[in-house]
Amino acid sequence: MSFVNAGVDAMASSLSEEFAVPAHVEEVRRVMAAFAEQHVAAGRTVVLITSGGTKVPLESRTVRFLDNFSSGRRGASSAEYFLAQGYAVIFLHRQRSLYPYTRLYTGVNLLDCLTLHPAHEGSGLVTVDQTKLPNITDVLKRYQAVKSAGLLLPVEFSTLSEYLHLLKAAAQALSSLGSKAMFYLAAAVSDFYIPPSEMPEHKIQSSNGPLQISMKMVPKILKPLVKDWAPKAFVISFKLETDPSILLERARCALDIYKHQVVVANVLDTRHGYVVIVTKDSQKELVLTEEEVQREVEIEEKIVKNLSQAHTQFINQEG
Ligand code: PMT
Repeated sequence: MSFVNAGVDAMASSLSEEFAVPAHVEEVRRVMAAFAEQHVAAGRTVVLITSGGTKVPLESRTVRFLDNFSSGRRGASSAEYFLAQGYAVIFLHRQRSLYPYTRLYTGVNLLDCLTLHPAHEGSGLVTVDQTKLPNITDVLKRYQAVKSAGLLLPVEFSTLSEYLHLLKAAAQALSSLGSKAMFYLAAAVSDFYIPPSEMPEHKIQSSNGPLQISMKMVPKILKPLVKDWAPKAFVISFKLETDPSILLERARCALDIYKHQVVVANVLDTRHGYVVIVTKDSQKELVLTEEEVQREVEIEEKIVKNLSQAHTQFINQEG
């Protein structure tokens, strides 16, 4: 079956046929819905952030897979800035990709930061060398405040199937929030997959010679998300290109097709210092100056500030 020209309804119903449904999806949907209701009742807005790359298996008993490039830095840092703006955050992320707050210490070996002091009665006292964990007191305070207020709900995916079903579940869980829900789709999602019916069960043997694979198009999940699953939400997609000359045209094309509110356009090599926020009738460049780079300002701070203001206007207009 091809999704290339499939309608939204066919696309949505084919999801379960073509992509294995994760066993825990219903439970996760309930948890996300309860999280959203609780925070909206407390006067907060809710953002669903997707982050990291999806994995596409080449064999049923998977040894090999194709991956999409994404470290998860964009999603994880954006989560921190949304939390600072007062949002409650559902963080739908690739397992073991960068995570809010801990991302700041990924280059650090934790065991090198600890010293064991043998204590009198046999148990040991462990102390932390704060010089090896820059700003740890401030980061820990922010992390603990978020944790104790229950403002961050992490949900993990690994494969493309898990991503698609969990995003659908999230959209359904947030649909009752209307315009108070924001979708910030920063994950790098595969456009190609091998259907289960065409996937070899066992490890592909190199003794059979060079490998040729044929992959099908993945349904663009943005379409049913905007049209059916969360039609009143504020939806932001990302457009990643390696050729800057086609970036804005591709971003505009996405807005025309999916009819959502914003595309954040970025080029692979410059994505940490430059993005363009594209809407139906505007485009705004966000750039880090040299001085901001020196101060370690992150472009996500500017993206999130811009988008949370746009979201507030959207809520005021749409009700
Ligand atoms: O994680 P980092 O290393 O910090 O990098 C951040 C990033 C470069 C991954 C991020 O800024 C980014 O651009 N993410 C989107 C990359 C991408 O997959 O673009 P795309 O053109 O393939 O997809 C466009 C949009 O459609 C995306 O918002 C995606 O969520 C959505 N999509 C994609 C495929 C698909 N089958 N369905 C979708 O809805």
